[in-house]
Amino acid sequence: MTTSAPERIKALREQIDNHNYRYYVLDEPSIPDAEYDRIFRELKQLEEENPELVTPDSPTQRVGAKPEGGFAEVQHELPMLSLDNAFSEEELRGFVRRIGDRVKGLDTAALAFACEPKLDGLAISLVYENGVLVRGATRGDGYTGEDITLNVRTIANVPLKLRGSGWPERLEVRGEVYMPKAGFEALNERARARDEKTFVNPRNAAAGSLRQLDPKITAQRPLEFCSYSTGIVDGGELPDSHSETLHQLREWGLKINPEMRVVTGADGCLEYYRDMEQKRAGLAYDIDGLVFKVDSREIQQALGFVARAPRWAIAHKFPAQEEITRLNDVEFQVGRTGAVTPVARLEPVFVGGVTVSNATLHNMDEIARLDVKIGDHVMVRRAGDVIPQIVKVVTEKRTGDESPVHIPSQCPVCGSDIERTQLVKRGKGGEQVSEGAIYRCVGRLSCEAQLKQALFHFGSRKAMDIDGLGDKNIEQLVDLELVRSPADLYRLSTRDLLRLEGFAELSSENLIAAIDQSRQVNLERFIYALGIPEVGEETARTLASSLGSLANVRRALPEVLATLKDIGLTVAYEIHNFMQDSHNQKVIDDLLSLEVQPKESGQVSPALTGSVAFGDLINSLGIFKVGKKGADNLAAHFGTLSALLEANEAQIAAVTGLNSQAKRNLFEYLQSEAHRHRLSAIEQQLREFGMHWECQPEESLQSLPLEGETWVLTGAMEALTRDEAKVRLQALGAKVAGSVSAKTSALVAGEKAGSKLAKAEQLGIRVLNEAQLIELLEAEGQGL
Ligand code: IVH
Repeated sequence: MTTSAPERIKALREQIDNHNYRYYVLDEPSIPDAEYDRIFRELKQLEEENPELVTPDSPTQRVGAKPEGGFAEVQHELPMLSLDNAFSEEELRGFVRRIGDRVKGLDTAALAFACEPKLDGLAISLVYENGVLVRGATRGDGYTGEDITLNVRTIANVPLKLRGSGWPERLEVRGEVYMPKAGFEALNERARARDEKTFVNPRNAAAGSLRQLDPKITAQRPLEFCSYSTGIVDGGELPDSHSETLHQLREWGLKINPEMRVVTGADGCLEYYRDMEQKRAGLAYDIDGLVFKVDSREIQQALGFVARAPRWAIAHKFPAQEEITRLNDVEFQVGRTGAVTPVARLEPVFVGGVTVSNATLHNMDEIARLDVKIGDHVMVRRAGDVIPQIVKVVTEKRTGDESPVHIPSQCPVCGSDIERTQLVKRGKGGEQVSEGAIYRCVGRLSCEAQLKQALFHFGSRKAMDIDGLGDKNIEQLVDLELVRSPADLYRLSTRDLLRLEGFAELSSENLIAAIDQSRQVNLERFIYALGIPEVGEETARTLASSLGSLANVRRALPEVLATLKDIGLTVAYEIHNFMQDSHNQKVIDDLLSLEVQPKESGQVSPALTGSVAFGDLINSLGIFKVGKKGADNLAAHFGTLSALLEANEAQIAAVTGLNSQAKRNLFEYLQSEAHRHRLSAIEQQLREFGMHWECQPEESLQSLPLEGETWVLTGAMEALTRDEAKVRLQALGAKVAGSVSAKTSALVAGEKAGSKLAKAEQLGIRVLNEAQLIELLEAEGQGL
């Protein structure tokens, strides 16, 4: 029996509403995204075929057409009030005391308070009539707001229709619209990529998004709604306390804050404050304080209001995370790889709980984007433990005496030239070189700043692991001119070290022994220790395990490097350029001649054989319109480079899965003698490396259980250290990254996991605790 369209539509809408409820309100997603998308598409299609069955509360109808004119005014039937603030324990205790003074016979030590985070967004009123959302409005001045129904409808977790039953005929729900931190970062990331203006903070982004006249734009913004009170209630009743009311709202499908607790007395409120202070940085959204509300509605009514705020509630504010101060100067620091970065010197200001006098400015593009000048007043933001940032210039405070920031043309440390990095992009007209945002001092190891940092990196635990080579000793070794390159470390004698402050016979011998021991190092640590720009532990590991020897890494062509796992063309060129540089070559030769002996397998990884790598190689040529898929298809079709080189136009035309423009570009590419020459050189190199690429079906390639996955570790674990966990995950084929992004496959969250956990949850990424990790490792033969 086939179901009729109206029945199917009804069933699909119910399913979608249920999934939305589980996802947005209960925080327990019940189906994979792909399945949700499928149901949604089916509903959309059915509604398109049966337009007469479309109703405004259908989940497909969130985004409507742009209205004529601006937003209409709305009168709030009950004014939307504000809250008094408390900034200290005394002020909070004063608030509770005043409640005791007003209500006869009340024991405030036992009085129940509902505690919630104070979300940093915008207050909104939603009116439901017979369970259907009929109006959404801003708070405005508390009495008159703006009708933003069409925009509010696009917020995915605002129910268009209430769930269950028993709601009052007319119910006004009040709450906050806000933008979670991860969504805010992603939105700004996109804006930066398009050279558009970024938002200063999530609150401004939420406000800007709600103020859009076109609901289609609002719909693309990652907004959320969280309920914290009610307004008008007609034709029905709500529970007797605030906390029960919120639970009732939750049953009707509205999100409430999961951190909401009921505590007793001022002591309970203060304990909650201390608890949330700890949690704050790890929350998925910004909060600027907490709200404490007398839970009993009867006592609330007895207390009433003063001016525009209730006597029964208070906002206990956290120290501000944004302050305005003066930019006194911009100085330039030189990093390990020579990158010259601007650092803001600020008039000291108390922000986010600490005094801040420096802030990062990232690079010269950031200075241009902010249009910041020395002498400007700037807004400084310090949220959680992140490095303080300048988020905007307060242009109203300009006097005209401000001066522009210029990057020096000579390195402030060594006086060498500073060069702007070039970006190579491949497009229709071939290679295009554009200016990068990074400037580099060309002095390399003759630049003291680079030398000191290079030595520090070289000796660090994950590199050559030279115990006792801390920054103080490096400082002296360089200042006394005992060391001018990493190789010089291996020329030191105990006598040299005795010249260092705090060094005696024994400590000198110990450091010499540690340096000596580091001569036996494995290849991946050695490559990492060289400090090649863009080459972290993971890339060093790939280079070592794939190419098998230092000699291979040193001579590998960029296109060959780009066929390796997770190495793109930009990084490939960095590695190649580093290795071709005569100065670097000398350092490496010196190290080898001083008997630093990286242990090599000599084996080129078998994972590099087969048509998969051939596809990567074709892809790395950057032929316009031939993407990764097209390159893989070409690889599978031709199987060998010589077959591809010999192909005529008709044979290329016969390849499937490649558009005609791409085929033409490929044909033209192959016409060029220089290109053919380059390809032959690459082929020869690959052959010398022992790589080969007969086409083989993909499944015959050996694969590890976590191959292709990216894992992130955060928080403290008991049974093993993060590094141990990392090594085990890598052994199973996973890549272990330092930060959570949309590409993360899973997050392992130990104790006191903070913002990474919040971000993973925000992005719906799989999260494992320590026990689950150990279980997985054991199941895959990597147990403790
Ligand atoms: S209760 C009469 N609860 O704070 C009490 N407000 O200064 C009405 N806010 O405009 C507010 N989180 O935008 C309440 N959990 C929360 C809140 C909250 C944020 C905002 C709201 C209001 C302002 C009051």
